[in-house]
Amino acid sequence: MGLFTDEDLTNNAKGKVMASRKVFLLPGDGIGPEATAEVTKIINWMNEALGSGFEVEEGLVGGTAYDAHGEAISDGDMEKALAADAVLFGAVGGPKWDDVPYEARPEAGLLRLRKDMELFANLRPAICYPALADSSSLRKDVVEGLDILIVRELTGGVYFGEPKTITDLGNGQKRAVDTQVYDTFEIERIAGVAFEMARTRDNRVCSMEKRNVMKSGVLWNEVVSATHKDKYSDVELDHMLADAGGMQLVRWPKQFDVIVTDNLFGDMLSDVAAMLTGSLGMLPSASLGAPDPVTGARKAMYEPVHGSAPDIAGQGIANPIAMIASFAMMLRYSFNMVAEADQVEKAIANVLDTGKRTGDIWSEGCEKITTAEMGDAILAELQSLAA
Ligand code: IPM
Ligand code: MN
Repeated sequence: MGLFTDEDLTNNAKGKVMASRKVFLLPGDGIGPEATAEVTKIINWMNEALGSGFEVEEGLVGGTAYDAHGEAISDGDMEKALAADAVLFGAVGGPKWDDVPYEARPEAGLLRLRKDMELFANLRPAICYPALADSSSLRKDVVEGLDILIVRELTGGVYFGEPKTITDLGNGQKRAVDTQVYDTFEIERIAGVAFEMARTRDNRVCSMEKRNVMKSGVLWNEVVSATHKDKYSDVELDHMLADAGGMQLVRWPKQFDVIVTDNLFGDMLSDVAAMLTGSLGMLPSASLGAPDPVTGARKAMYEPVHGSAPDIAGQGIANPIAMIASFAMMLRYSFNMVAEADQVEKAIANVLDTGKRTGDIWSEGCEKITTAEMGDAILAELQSLAA
């Protein structure tokens, strides 16, 4: 079975005739519902004007699911997620659920989706839109034109490794254990994704681990190198220790093309990368499984990298761009609607060029607008691009 060739990435649409496009929407908590509402506007318009045939069903995840049925995602919604062509996910979490049992905490819903759908490959592109080069906390020349892709392993490592416990030692002390564990095949398949993605870009991969202190880092390094030698020697490969990688990401981010790393380092490094682009509100992501060997269809979930931002939830001021850009990734990777995906991304860039900004990316001289106004502006731009 191939990994992520270009062919694979579009197989969902090629491999079968899509009678309909089943999207399962999980708005979640905090700003999740506000942000996903802006995507719903676009989907409705695409259905009406372009006959795109999206069938959208909505479910509960996170704290809102806990409030409704005492768990972070119900078995019923989990089944719907598994049956959908793609899942669009908002955000989960918030102080309201600080005291719920660990197993039922909002994040558990997200982690179960990733694990049960076997979404091992998390693609987090960090692109600095020209109009936002001034919004970054870094100097303009450091981030202008930035276009990197973080490929984060998503179903392994310390997030899921067992044992994962807190034990009472009986002497007034407790001991907490998390387990960082990777098998060869997990490293091989995520490295394959990174190399395949690199071939569609600048053909360079930088692998990050901590082989100087972690056995999992030693194996990671070894397997990435072997996979490279075996199948991808046309791609340029570098290795960096993850701490140095974090430093380089802030020092001169444009040196990178594709970064491949484990679940935990990927979590941290992608937040850093997000901030380079001006705001956490800008970064989309795609979480993909392996293609089905028979149908070519792959499970997929799309979510913004930002969280639920409970401090600004319900005020209508959140930035919906990461959510809308996640929808563009859905069009591209789940439905092979490449032209439409390009247009959504172009619409975002064009609206930013007009100086319209939500609060998080606002700067002097720009027009401050609400979540809904940003969604409307992007939709209007999309309509004129499609006309
Ligand atoms: C992310 C988030 C999640 C993670 C949380 C909400 C569990 O931070 O998607 O980056 O740690 O993976
Ligand atoms: Mn994170």
